[in-house]
Amino acid sequence: METGAGDVAGHWDEIYGRRLPTEVSWYQDQPTVSLALLDALRVTPDQPIVDVGGGASVLVDRLLDRRFGDVSVLDVSATALAHAKKRLAERAELVHWLHEDVLTWRPGRRYGIWHDRAVFHFLVEENQRRAYLAALRAALTSEARVVIGTFAGDGPQQCSGLPVQRYDPGDLAAVFGAEFDVIEHRRDGHRTPNGTEQPFTWVGMVWRPKFQPRPRG
Ligand SMILES: C[S@@+](CC[C@H](N)C(=O)[O-])C[C@H]1O[C@@H](n2cnc3c(N)ncnc32)[C@H](O)[C@@H]1O
Repeated sequence: METGAGDVAGHWDEIYGRRLPTEVSWYQDQPTVSLALLDALRVTPDQPIVDVGGGASVLVDRLLDRRFGDVSVLDVSATALAHAKKRLAERAELVHWLHEDVLTWRPGRRYGIWHDRAVFHFLVEENQRRAYLAALRAALTSEARVVIGTFAGDGPQQCSGLPVQRYDPGDLAAVFGAEFDVIEHRRDGHRTPNGTEQPFTWVGMVWRPKFQPRPRG
């Protein structure tokens, strides 16, 4: 991981070090909406997928259950990734673990699916969103599927002590731009472990770049 990401990594390591993965506000025992949107986008298990800011999420478990053969989990927090590896036990070896800050990540290969639940909304500055989109474009193949889940327009104004940008589906479509074709969007209420409901906006998109991305790797 590039230096400069230390503060962000330290922040998240501290949170994942202090609480169990089942105790954090974003914990869910099943990634129901993520899987539904992947189905809606007609993804297949042979397509390489990267879960960006996947943390200790169980999405990776469910993807392995579904026989996805090329699964990567990227996160700035080594502590979060360690939780996920421990839970998966020997199945952890089937996963590519990327200890990276997505904003400085230089992907060495391309993926057919990008998933992000509750990471993009932490990017409250224009230059952060630009860096995220640059990483996404560098990481994906043409016609890649993109699933993004953020706090909705009436969702919480912060999470884990950090401010967030809230989105309705049209806002997300506008930030991602014309090259991203929104196939499906949803509103979902996430129930936190302490019983609060947090409204989320989800979009499932296809990336249709104007120019064919160059192959990597
Ligand atoms: C709210 S949690 C969501 C985790 C996971 N997606 C889930 O649904 O359980 C946000 C995650 O994003 C990670 N994260 C935050 N900023 C990041 C960055 N710039 N690059 C990579 N990961 C980041 C955090 O470490 C944390 O695991």
